[in-house]
Amino acid sequence: MSPVMAVSAHNHKGECHKGVKQLVDSGLQRVPKKYILSPSERPATNMEEDPINVAKQNLQLPIIDFSDLLGPNRPQVLQNLAAACEGYGFFQLVNHGISDDVIRSMIGVVGRFFNLSFEERTRYMTEDMRAAVRYGTSFSQTKDSVFCWRDFLKLLCHPLPEFLPHWPPSPVDFRKVAATYAQETKHLFLMLMEAIVESLGIMEANEGEETLEKDNILKEMEDGSQVLVTNFYPPCPEPDLTLGMPPHSDYGFLTLLLQDEVEGLQIQFQEKWFTVQPINNAFVVNVGDHLEIYSNGKYKSVLHRVVVNSANSRTSVASLHSLPFNSTVRPSPKLVDETNPKRYADTDFETFLAHISTTETKRKDFLNSRKLTST
Ligand code: OGA
Ligand code: NI
Repeated sequence: MSPVMAVSAHNHKGECHKGVKQLVDSGLQRVPKKYILSPSERPATNMEEDPINVAKQNLQLPIIDFSDLLGPNRPQVLQNLAAACEGYGFFQLVNHGISDDVIRSMIGVVGRFFNLSFEERTRYMTEDMRAAVRYGTSFSQTKDSVFCWRDFLKLLCHPLPEFLPHWPPSPVDFRKVAATYAQETKHLFLMLMEAIVESLGIMEANEGEETLEKDNILKEMEDGSQVLVTNFYPPCPEPDLTLGMPPHSDYGFLTLLLQDEVEGLQIQFQEKWFTVQPINNAFVVNVGDHLEIYSNGKYKSVLHRVVVNSANSRTSVASLHSLPFNSTVRPSPKLVDETNPKRYADTDFETFLAHISTTETKRKDFLNSRKLTST
């Protein structure tokens, strides 16, 4: 490395911690070294270079019509839901009842937040995982050896009256819009969880004990944790060299993801990466590690990642839901018996935090650390 290059790489190091929006706004033409993945980890959008790991076709994810779940077709939709969770770990949710207005306002206000001045946005920059509001860049700014092309703002949402006063006061409508969005996605999550629990066969026709198990988990969920993660991926001058988010699974029960019209989310299916085509106003819903544990491995959390592009910025909002932070997640006793032994160790949020604060969060490391058998 020439002395000149060494100096410029060093200078970028400090710059990188300010996030990718700031780098791009400063007129950057090349991706700094800090973001360049080793060749085997690059997204390989060029088919000739890597025809094995990236699929040519987009994947048509199962589509679940939420309004159908509330009508006479519920049994059929529950079967489709089970098939989607078992076969893909992902589905698109349409006709979910959250209005276009609430959705458009949320994407809009998040876009305006990331357009605020650098000073205003970064008032919320902290390494404290328990902070009510956390602004940052990459996946884990302190542990990632290679940074990814993403800035984020995370908001804790439950209980809302406790956290809302800590949320950013600007743009002026930020708190109002994000609070409405948080409440409506929470309600939708609870209705979906009820269907998911039923789809696992945990509640069969009015058998007292099983109904109790269903009621218990749903009751606990009402008071469960909710984290809104808003992501901003600016245009990237060399998108083949880096990723917006590395391959990972989500920690909670379900994630409800809202993406704008720019594609970028990819999921792993049969060992290939497929792009998830955005559907206007739909949620991309995915199984998280906690649901994999609760279902004793019947439903699997699936690896996903984000690719970036040179033409457009992209905004997304992920709503992550789980039990309260101090609850224990364990396989449902209804899904454990002699032929189906317990496949995961009980876990809680503290164990998860301890895990992510000591290792580079990648792939399904945390879940793998909870497995009791190697199958
Ligand atoms: C996430 C996530 C995907 C996206 O926030 O966990 O996977 O498209 N986001 O931003
Ligand atoms: Ni994710």
